[in-house]
Amino acid sequence: MAEDLIIGQGTKAEQYETLIPQIEALVAGESDLIANLANIAAALKQQFQWLWIGFYVVKADMLVVGPFQGPVACTRIAKGRGVCGICWEQESPVIVPDVSRFPGHIACSSLSRSEIVVPVFRAGKMIALLDADSEKQDNFDETDLHYLRVIAGILQKDAEVDSFL
Ligand code: SME
Repeated sequence: MAEDLIIGQGTKAEQYETLIPQIEALVAGESDLIANLANIAAALKQQFQWLWIGFYVVKADMLVVGPFQGPVACTRIAKGRGVCGICWEQESPVIVPDVSRFPGHIACSSLSRSEIVVPVFRAGKMIALLDADSEKQDNFDETDLHYLRVIAGILQKDAEVDSFL
């Protein structure tokens, strides 16, 4: 595809609907996981301008930060720690409307007010997670959850995930 992302307008759902085919095109035919995570993070950042958007990758007994856009972030997160560690432990998404009310939230940036974390699976195994942080409270809802799961699902098709881990 062309390098220029078409920025969607309209409702949040309409913005995702414009973005997702472009993400599919970006990763189509590319089996390198880092490349695909990097472009997906960049595309989401361009569209939504969230404070932080990126991936943590499951490596042995830790989550290790992967490609992201935004301020520097903590490098490693243990299972059960913070929003990401809970997502990993439960292998299910977490929406946090107000991070100050989430026990154990890891504040990589003091500007973050709300967060969503969605697991990425391949062959039934959780291999990474997508994490988005917003400066606005209550920024993420079921619409984000639905579409970010679709995006996580695109990564399931990645052919060379194992070579990265
Ligand atoms: N807030 C996360 C840590 C990762 S950063 O937000 C990028 C957490 O509590 O796990």
